[in-house]
Amino acid sequence: MKSNRFFNRDVVSIKDFQRDELEFLFEKTDKMKKLNPKEKDELGKARIMGYLFYEPSTRTRMSFEAAMASIGGSSIGISDLKSSSIEKGESLQDTVHVMDLYSDLIILRHQLDGSSKFAAEISEHPIINGGSGSEEHPTQAMLDLYTILKEKKKIDGLKIIILGDLKYGRTIYSLLYGLANYDVEIILVSPPTLQIRQESIYGLKNKMKIVELVEMDETIIKNSDILYVTRIQKERFSDPQEYEKVKGTYTIDSNMLKKFKPDISIMHPLPRMDEISRDLDNTNNAVYFKQASYGKDLRSALLALILNESPL
Ligand code: CP
Repeated sequence: MKSNRFFNRDVVSIKDFQRDELEFLFEKTDKMKKLNPKEKDELGKARIMGYLFYEPSTRTRMSFEAAMASIGGSSIGISDLKSSSIEKGESLQDTVHVMDLYSDLIILRHQLDGSSKFAAEISEHPIINGGSGSEEHPTQAMLDLYTILKEKKKIDGLKIIILGDLKYGRTIYSLLYGLANYDVEIILVSPPTLQIRQESIYGLKNKMKIVELVEMDETIIKNSDILYVTRIQKERFSDPQEYEKVKGTYTIDSNMLKKFKPDISIMHPLPRMDEISRDLDNTNNAVYFKQASYGKDLRSALLALILNESPL
């Protein structure tokens, strides 16, 4: 049996995880889905998950809470800053320190790059990065890779378009770092002002083929297996006029869908604004809600692996 290298470990960056570790997590996610409620309950019994959300969240917070409940544990946390002492000016350092006294692990979402790394240096218990600035969202990428595997039965050999706000979208940086473990071809499509930050993908171009475009061309549309769409991150723009210029640049609708491979999988970390038309929601190509659902499954396995040396 393989040893559990997730036990008691921080999840700050997906770059810290090797391919065999990610695949171990995916296997355990499958296994977790087959356990009965009593078996699952043993994995988190009497354990407490703390969460600190300095930025809004629907999926990450709720799926972690649901995941913790599904393994018999409970959750405490802050998501409304105004109802906590953060409103009085308490520092991130002291808030993490106190949450660490009450919890067996902590999920942190914060607007600053480096926030989870900083928290991991303070906390005795594991820190899971639930989104740090425009830098990373590692558990989103883990569930994205799991979703690709479930949809396509493989990751190697796929052609993947990543479309939208590639400058500020933290999910796509973690996704690219995760995909760098596989033999994939990446097509990055974004408006010129929202292109990928070259310094953040330094070195990735030696590991996989990456093409950068401002429009999708016909060859790319016809040959790609996955279309990963992202929202323009309005909250990261310092100038609202700059947001207005790029808002609504790309919309995938049923006319556009006809041009892709019939079995293209359309993914999105959500929330979406207008970049995917609701007409697509009931097609077999729309994977984004299934992707959100896999978030709970994968995070249940991740929590069980971090909290128990030999859980599954
Ligand atoms: N995908 C994601 O991180 O969604 P939330 O911002 O709703 O957590």
